[in-house]
Amino acid sequence: MTASKNIHWHAATITREDREKMNGHKSTILWFTGLSGSGKSTLAHAVEDRLYKLGARTYVLDGDNIRHGLCKDLGFSDADRTENIRRIGEVAKLFTDSGVMALTAFISPFRSDRDAVRALVEDGDFVEIYCKCDLGVCEERDVKGLYKKARAGEIPEFTGINSPYEEPLKAEIEIDTAAQSIEESVEQVINTLIARDIISAD
Ligand code: ADX
Repeated sequence: MTASKNIHWHAATITREDREKMNGHKSTILWFTGLSGSGKSTLAHAVEDRLYKLGARTYVLDGDNIRHGLCKDLGFSDADRTENIRRIGEVAKLFTDSGVMALTAFISPFRSDRDAVRALVEDGDFVEIYCKCDLGVCEERDVKGLYKKARAGEIPEFTGINSPYEEPLKAEIEIDTAAQSIEESVEQVINTLIARDIISAD
């Protein structure tokens, strides 16, 4: 449902397929999900690094950064998180159409929100990458000092503490970020992209 009336879709003359052909790879969305501190951003940037060296066109959409601009009006209530992920899904879809691979690093704690993005794009265009890491390990790392604050009651609705995280049930890639090195994890993602014909092996 759109709020506006009298709007018409204008089809582009240059298609996604044209752009993908020029770029030499597909523009699938790589959707990293997991608790705060589970390694989403680190891994997304490391994968982007590797893809850049392979000559791919990419862009990382990162939770903390996007909340400085596009989503600066949103907080962390369930409804705001849903709206956050909806907007990111729409932006990532535009990237797909532009031929660029979007790597997104958002907690995206609700399965239904992630599935809504999956449903928004064509089959195979959404690769869910679960950065699996025990809450205890994330809390131990506490890179931003937020778990400590949340435990002290200074952050309401903090994911894993007093707001839920729903694990993916059908992630295309599951990465044990507590056990694997970043290099191993990057390798795992790249190999999956090759196996799915998103990028080529050479
Ligand atoms: S999401 O739930 O809507 O997907 P998003 O990935 O955009 O979250 O933002 C998460 C980041 O915001 C965390 O990495 C953390 O730095 C910060 N943050 C601040 N408050 C909260 C909170 N209540 N819950 C989770 N993350 C928070």
